[in-house]
Amino acid sequence: MNPANLAAEKMVREQLIPLGRGIDDPQVIQAMRHIPRELFVPEHMRASAYEDRPLPIGNDQTISQPFVVAYMTQALLPLPGGRVLEIGTGSGYQTAVLAEIFPEIYSVELTAELSSKAQDALGKLNYRNIRYLVNDGRLGWPEHAPYSAVIVTCAAPTIPQALLDQLADQGRMILPVGTTHQQLVRVVRDGNRFEEESLLPVRFVPLR
Ligand SMILES: C[S@@+](CC[C@H](N)C(=O)[O-])C[C@H]1O[C@@H](n2cnc3c(N)ncnc32)[C@H](O)[C@@H]1O
Repeated sequence: MNPANLAAEKMVREQLIPLGRGIDDPQVIQAMRHIPRELFVPEHMRASAYEDRPLPIGNDQTISQPFVVAYMTQALLPLPGGRVLEIGTGSGYQTAVLAEIFPEIYSVELTAELSSKAQDALGKLNYRNIRYLVNDGRLGWPEHAPYSAVIVTCAAPTIPQALLDQLADQGRMILPVGTTHQQLVRVVRDGNRFEEESLLPVRFVPLR
């Protein structure tokens, strides 16, 4: 095993699988083992790429803590279909985890420079199932709706209506909601009803 694989294996064993953290979905674990996280952090942060915390990626933004990436991905399962909308491409690491598991990923990022760096990193890994958009994610990406899952990786004070509208029936959305105090919320759509469940206190950068 090369050193990056060893670091990813250690991350999975120490940060994801232990009881209390509760990551047990085989597809999520396999994706987190497999993806070279160091490709998604700035060069001077590479030695810290697998640490149990978020890291700065430039433009005042962060790559999320590995556990939070795994937790949010697992919270989307099982899905009624394969089309996923991600708001906040950021480094592209969460996008890679989604692309390992789901057939079609649509990823929206507000900052063109971050989207471009993420596309470079994801291009090196040869993903063919991701489409990118630079835009305000609060609008979603209506052209490709409905989505079986929506994942938002920045915190909104309330759930954007356009994202609820673009969720498929029986689809799942996961997002941090709040300002200073945030909760990770899962929404499941049942016809015109949206069932909300608070899962975990979290701290994300704000949706701008
Ligand atoms: C915590 S970071 C993303 C982390 C990412 N999941 C990762 O693993 O690298 C949040 C991202 O949301 C983006 N963002 C903030 N407001 C946005 C908006 N209105 N529309 C789209 N993206 C937005 C930020 O630029 C930032 O890249």
